[in-house]
Amino acid sequence: MFRAYIVTVSDSSYFENKKDLSGPTLVNILTEKGYEVVGREILPDDREKISSVLEMLCDEDKADLILTTGGTGFAKRDVTPEATLDVIEKSVPGFGEIMRSKSFEITKNAILSRETAGIRRDTLIINLPGSPKAASENLNFIIDSVEHGLSILR
Ligand code: MTE
Repeated sequence: MFRAYIVTVSDSSYFENKKDLSGPTLVNILTEKGYEVVGREILPDDREKISSVLEMLCDEDKADLILTTGGTGFAKRDVTPEATLDVIEKSVPGFGEIMRSKSFEITKNAILSRETAGIRRDTLIINLPGSPKAASENLNFIIDSVEHGLSILR
């Protein structure tokens, strides 16, 4: 059973207690697919904070898969892909490519998501967009390949 950790990146959830709906949505999808969701947290749109949490989760082997949700767009404070690129050792561009391309068929605005993915040590990190709808649609496009990738990484 693979261990998954979910990081919601949202200033409004972090500072204003806005309910995080995306995190629980991702927990449901992963649990249905047989993952053990070992943790979940909410972070502000802060590059340093995001990268240090990602780094710690990978270096202390807390999870096989980390999904981030939010902060992938064009807003000034959107820095989740940059924080991810700060810590990954190998880039895995295919996830972003397929998610954008499949999502573009649903909404043209999907092209605005700069989501990325990569590997640090034994952990795969994948960015997803912020809304529950966008996060779940994107995850469903890639989930089967994620599992195959993780079994090779192990
Ligand atoms: N992808 C899917 N599948 N469905 C969506 O509704 N919304 C998009 C996009 N990707 C969307 C999607 C929108 S409106 C934006 S602005 C970008 O993701 C970035 O979202 P984020 O800034 O919340 O990460």
